[in-house]
Amino acid sequence: MTENDINLLLDEIISRINNAYTPYSKFNVVSGVIDQNGKKHFGVNVENRSYGLTMCAERNAIAAAVTNGMKTIKVIAVVADTVGPISPCGACREVISEFSSDDTIIILSNKNKVYKQYKISELLPLAFRFDQ
Ligand code: THU
Repeated sequence: MTENDINLLLDEIISRINNAYTPYSKFNVVSGVIDQNGKKHFGVNVENRSYGLTMCAERNAIAAAVTNGMKTIKVIAVVADTVGPISPCGACREVISEFSSDDTIIILSNKNKVYKQYKISELLPLAFRFDQ
């Protein structure tokens, strides 16, 4: 991904950040996935009055992607209104790992496009696997 590609992707993702449903935390998160065919899928966090049912943006983006035929994640980006790049929760790291390979690009950013790029092995070292 060139810097320009990343900028355009982050613009598309950030344009959806106000769709997050966050009446409780007021902490909006938005995520975008590019699948193996180059198709884009998006998700925001959706909270619930029964707090534990809250769904994170990354997992919603991945669920939308799977629904539309995603098999592997080529790129996933996560954005929040944070000082530096957002750091995804452990549950989302596990779910990202499920659809990632060593080539998957993970972009963590804030709303001002201050971002850093990672591999899943950096975000989730020693991930659980059946074939270990
Ligand atoms: N959240 C995400 O959407 N993704 C993460 O990786 C961390 C947390 C959401 C859940 C909740 O709606 C809000 O951020 C505050 O925890």
